[in-house]
Amino acid sequence: MGYNQENYKRIREEYRTKYLRAYEEANRRMAEVHAKSPEIAAIDRELSMAGAEIALAVIGTGEGYKEKLAAAEQKNLALQKKRGVLLQKLGYPANYTLPPYECPKCKDFGFVDTKMCDCMRRELVMAAYESSGLGELMRTQSFASFDLSFYSAENGDRSRMQYNLDFLKRYAEDFDMQSDNLLFFGATGLGKTHLSTSIARRVIERGYDVYYTSAIGMFSDFEHARFGSGAERAAAEPTRYIDCDLLILDDLGTEVINQFTTSCLYMILNNRINLKRPTIINTNLTGKELQAKYADRIASRLFGEFKPLQFVGVDVRRRKLMAK
Ligand SMILES: Nc1ncnc2c1ncn2[C@@H]1O[C@H](COP(=O)(O)OP(=O)(O)OP(=O)(O)O)[C@@H](O)[C@H]1O
Ligand SMILES: [Mg+2]
Ligand SMILES: [Zn+2]
Repeated sequence: MGYNQENYKRIREEYRTKYLRAYEEANRRMAEVHAKSPEIAAIDRELSMAGAEIALAVIGTGEGYKEKLAAAEQKNLALQKKRGVLLQKLGYPANYTLPPYECPKCKDFGFVDTKMCDCMRRELVMAAYESSGLGELMRTQSFASFDLSFYSAENGDRSRMQYNLDFLKRYAEDFDMQSDNLLFFGATGLGKTHLSTSIARRVIERGYDVYYTSAIGMFSDFEHARFGSGAERAAAEPTRYIDCDLLILDDLGTEVINQFTTSCLYMILNNRINLKRPTIINTNLTGKELQAKYADRIASRLFGEFKPLQFVGVDVRRRKLMAK
């Protein structure tokens, strides 16, 4: 569990050499400044000598080493000051020749002591967004953009959807490998995908590996892995459906059901349930339809292992279109 392993490996690898970029840039700037100002070049030579004196004084214990240290430090400070003035006269900021780290906190190492730095965590989250399969949806759909006023307050729809919203916000906030499996029921355009995406976003931010897929997309991936050739086959990644911390399987019931899709679905559900990896499934089908459409061994898992959430209301997709 945790970060998607491939992303993690790639980003760790990038960080291994990232700090070198700042060093190289500092060296380049140093050469540029020295070419323009022999005076600064001379100061830098003196500074490196002063640095050596400080180092010697620090390791020394002999007579008067404290005074020597203080004197060397004094000299160092004075030189730094003079250097800063000269740099600024040339039109450079005083810190121009220091390594320009992207993240001063960890100096582009990605870790502060043994703790992962926020910058690396952010990179991992960005990569996880990219590899989640959510793409564009992620940009527009969030808990914050979920509007309850689309649901009627008179007939009780709104209070049910308010319950769903509150429950799912908490679900995303508390998500871990003990979290329930969820089954979103309801007609088209009621916000099932919207709330699934919102959960994905939050759970990814919290450092989990989330994978979102439509049922049709998943089955075609399995077909490519099984029957495809060449690039198609290489691109198929059926293990992700089992490996990810949270799988979101959208639009179950839109696929053509045959022996192959049935055995794939059974394999996924069974594995994820046994490994205790949460899954969220969305469907337009009713409980009766699910029962009729899927083999018993699948239906019994859907009913026995998933908490159902009913989505109600009038097609929000259409209402939004009409309002335009
Ligand atoms: N409560 C809401 N507030 C704001 N936008 C919403 C709300 N519910 C749905 N939408 C928007 O309406 C469109 C349809 O919603 P969504 O895709 O979540 O429906 P769905 O229940 O998944 O439908 P389907 O069963 O057809 O897949 C999306 O653009 C979504 O962002
Ligand atoms: Mg949907
Ligand atoms: Zn950092």
